Amino acid sequence: MPKVTFRIADTDSRTIDAPDGTSVMLVAVQAGIPGIVGECGGDMSCATCHVYVEDQTGFKKRSADEEDLLELSDDLRETSRLSCQLKLSAATPEVEVEVPPHD
Ligand code: FES
Repeated sequence: MPKVTFRIADTDSRTIDAPDGTSVMLVAVQAGIPGIVGECGGDMSCATCHVYVEDQTGFKKRSADEEDLLELSDDLRETSRLSCQLKLSAATPEVEVEVPPHD
């Protein structure tokens, strides 16, 4: 079962076991991780699931649609991803996610 560690504002972190097939966004929303909202439910139309992932081994690369939506996000970085597009599987046993700062 994949483990997802959320680093929140450099001061807090939480590690959650998550089943294969779910997305990082759903894990975050179900766990109440602050700063990840998932407003559109994963339809790739809101960008309220923006995160940074340094090591993206095992995840699909960003699609053109994901790139377009990310460009609307504040604090875009090379490591930016929409967490609704990050599907957990045996190929992603340990994932570390940084939650962007939010107001
Ligand atoms: S949840 Fe809306 S774009 Fe990811």
